[in-house]
Amino acid sequence: MNASHSENYRPLYHFSPRKGWINDPNGLLYLDGTWHLFFQYYPHAPIHGPMYWGHATSCDLVCWQEQPVALCPQGSIYMFSGSAVVDYGNTSGFGDGTTPPLVAIYTAHDIAETDPNQVENQALAYSLDGGMTWAQYAGNPVLQSPGLPDFRDPKVSWDAECGRWLMVLAAGDRVHFYESADLINWRFLSEFGAECGAHGGVWECPDLFSLPVKNEFWEDGLDADDSEGCAPEKEKWVLLVSINPGGPNEGSATQYFVGDFDGTTFTLDESQPCASARWVDWGRDNYAGVLFNNVPGDRRVMIGWMSNWDYAAELPSAADGWLGQMTIPRELSLVVNSEGYVLKSYPVPELFARREQGSRLFRCGKVEVANEEVPMIPFGELDLKRGMIKVSLHGLGAGQSTITFRNPWGQELRLGVNNVEGSARAELFVDRSDAGSEVLPKNFPVPLMVAPLAGGMRNSMRMLLCLDKTSLECFANRGERCVTASVYPSAAFTEMGFSAESTGATFSLEAYALHVDNCEP
Ligand code: FRU
Repeated sequence: MNASHSENYRPLYHFSPRKGWINDPNGLLYLDGTWHLFFQYYPHAPIHGPMYWGHATSCDLVCWQEQPVALCPQGSIYMFSGSAVVDYGNTSGFGDGTTPPLVAIYTAHDIAETDPNQVENQALAYSLDGGMTWAQYAGNPVLQSPGLPDFRDPKVSWDAECGRWLMVLAAGDRVHFYESADLINWRFLSEFGAECGAHGGVWECPDLFSLPVKNEFWEDGLDADDSEGCAPEKEKWVLLVSINPGGPNEGSATQYFVGDFDGTTFTLDESQPCASARWVDWGRDNYAGVLFNNVPGDRRVMIGWMSNWDYAAELPSAADGWLGQMTIPRELSLVVNSEGYVLKSYPVPELFARREQGSRLFRCGKVEVANEEVPMIPFGELDLKRGMIKVSLHGLGAGQSTITFRNPWGQELRLGVNNVEGSARAELFVDRSDAGSEVLPKNFPVPLMVAPLAGGMRNSMRMLLCLDKTSLECFANRGERCVTASVYPSAAFTEMGFSAESTGATFSLEAYALHVDNCEP
């Protein structure tokens, strides 16, 4: 057993730091077979101190090896969030003529600056050895604050069509777009968001990318050919924006906008009302998610910080000298259905490849009378601390249909579908209020995390549930709705039950343990 597995709260297959504090993923980058995860890091204590960029690498997005620190504070300047690119054309001139430089674009947050509107500027660092060591650009900063207290988290990507770099960054309660030929000189293009989406908190960690559109409009039996004439566009642009506070279940969360980007301006699609917000994840514990750059095959892979500023500093692993973990890497896709354009996220296939075939468990059952709980299903040898479970629910009637995980202490984590009685509304819910909370800060459990489901009452629902020692990531209808929740049970869950307030609901489940024993601490 390796060191990590002996610590109470150390996750088995989510990235966590050996020591110190982490928050946002930064500089996500794929290069030559290696996934690079940089992150907001304070190595000396489990607190949000002077920020460094930590570094971890993976060959498969499942097991991560921590690497030496990438960026260190420069005097009073902290290394806040940002991104990294491979500068193949050596546009920056940082290259040595043989290896394309990696360039990190981060927010230089200067705590010594007395003008509150000049604290945050954008700066560069570069690496000529594949991200292992970094040098600061002597001409920093490259983009000065236009006079805003919050001006940060640049996400830069290569715009192949126009042969330029594009940057989106958070500027107060909106985002700004910039372009550059060399990563050093930046030109303002436009802004978006003053009027749209969720407000009331600060906007942070934006990302902008395009996605092909998959049509799910016609999955109700109509032939796809029938869509001729009103077929959705083939590709749309997605803008991610984290907001804190202001999430749908309080605190931190990430919203998304679907629209078009004409090279200068982002325009929201008419199917998304400007005033409404859409959420990448409705849980309390998925924040600051951004995508990897330079990924082959146009995969859109996102990682988020699996915490919430409401309580991030008070979680119990602090007693072991570390705090913070990342979500499962998720693949994003864009569908169009009766709700309009919907951004789905789902665990990467690399995680599914870790299912231990020998651990497979099938079960099904039916609620014969209303309010019945079918007998608890013991998972036996199947270790739910590294569990991946597919659940199909059918015949759902009015009220709640609930999946319950229970541990030997009697602690319960409940989730399911609520066809709200007397209304045409349906919701997905995750309730962690009885899942073991004595070690947790008071503001930890929002008793019920709720995600409204589109299309009225739900007769059926498919869910994928990923459990680790201290988290549940729930993906409904292949990621149409996600709820990510930290949970701190006193012992692992060992059995599962199903109950419903209506009669005739059925469930079937297929469960696996994930083979992650070879992941290093
Ligand atoms: C988001 C954030 C960023 C900032 C970083 C500081 O969680 O507040 O906006 O750059 O964390 O650690």
